[in-house]
Amino acid sequence: MTVTPELFSATAVKYRNGELYVEGASLGNIADAVGTPVYVYSQEMLKNQYRKLDAALGSLPHQLHYAVKANSTLAVLKTFAELGAGFDIVSGGELSRVLAAGGNPDSVVFSGVGKSVEEIDFALKTGIECFNVESNSELIRISQRAEVLGKIAPIALRINPNVDPKTHPYISTGLKENKFGILQEAALGLYQQADADPNLHVRGVACHIGSQISAPEPLFDALDQLLSLIDQLADREIQLTDIDLGGGFGVTYQDEASFDIDAWGDRVVEHLGPRGLTVSIEPGRFLTANAGVLLTRVEYLKPSGGPAQANESHADEGKNFAIVDAAMNDLLRPSLYQAWHGVLAVQEHSSSDTRCWDLVGPICESGDWLAKNRMLSLAEGDLLAILSAGAYGSSLSSNYNTRNRAAEVMVSGDGFRVVRRRESLQDQLSTEIL
Ligand SMILES: Cc1ncc(COP(=O)(O)O)c(C=O)c1O
Repeated sequence: MTVTPELFSATAVKYRNGELYVEGASLGNIADAVGTPVYVYSQEMLKNQYRKLDAALGSLPHQLHYAVKANSTLAVLKTFAELGAGFDIVSGGELSRVLAAGGNPDSVVFSGVGKSVEEIDFALKTGIECFNVESNSELIRISQRAEVLGKIAPIALRINPNVDPKTHPYISTGLKENKFGILQEAALGLYQQADADPNLHVRGVACHIGSQISAPEPLFDALDQLLSLIDQLADREIQLTDIDLGGGFGVTYQDEASFDIDAWGDRVVEHLGPRGLTVSIEPGRFLTANAGVLLTRVEYLKPSGGPAQANESHADEGKNFAIVDAAMNDLLRPSLYQAWHGVLAVQEHSSSDTRCWDLVGPICESGDWLAKNRMLSLAEGDLLAILSAGAYGSSLSSNYNTRNRAAEVMVSGDGFRVVRRRESLQDQLSTEIL
């Protein structure tokens, strides 16, 4: 097998009679019906991941706010909305998506460092649950817009606890050097300012220190800081009711253990049990990553004497390239973060001609690759599944090289349906004026 047993058991795919399935739907049939590249999601797995997180917080009063940025496809949002999820948004566009998917605005928290006047007005008129405020200037702007609109804006301050989440630097958000959140030193003063402001309702405190976090310690360091801030505020007669612990729970992409959500939940319950705070979390990747795959077809094989072993250090001997019909515009994570995604043949081969391949896309960039140094037995026309593609896959896709964005399919049981049709060239050209 070209992927580890840990990954194989973490993903939504399973082999049946030599063919890869998501739930009861054959990936070969989906590709025949919809074409490639196509994202395929398991609705059952989306739901199961949600239920796991929900159960981890046990009897604490809590609300899950799904981080829309991880995968903002309406059918994914609707799946979570139907389970009672709230949503964590970072733009007015994401708020529109939540509303279109049937999400409840009362359970929407609005994060992000650059909320525009239009976005703040939209959120105030919609009546969201809370603005997670990231600077003094933003606090002032929200207060002014609330006054103009005759509303009272519910707010939490997003604290930057200066904690290292020990993850990739591009997805680390809780260090002083990151643009996110308000430093502890400034927080007390800002809370006092907000508490005295009749246009604001101070509800809580929030933090999100990064993504793909594997060990819980940094999360608890941040939690301790939030609790100490809550105590200092209580001494000043500012009583917070909500605590938002952010997202960031890591998943298995290769052989890493998935974040131990039950152990984490037990510790959170212990920390917060007697305080009576409503706990919120903002998970994205944990809910969607391993529920999705990207299906792609091999267009051309371009062997050039690459080694028979998977070994980076033999790169000067030549490389074997498999040029597939998905590219960095469909799945940016490998190019952006050198992320590793498992690759499986949709139809298992018994061929003995296994070689070391780089899977690359058709885009005119050397950085356009999806996987490197994989021992695979490949033929032109083969269908491949890129695993763990349900988070930061379709939502990070683009039209680079004027490529149409991929179709998306939701599987439920034995059935599947297209939940985003493949983009057309007409869709792309329709916004432009000569
Ligand atoms: C404010 C905020 N909340 C939640 C998330 C979700 O993170 P993850 O997908 O790692 O759970 C992010 C992502 O970076 C974020 O910026």
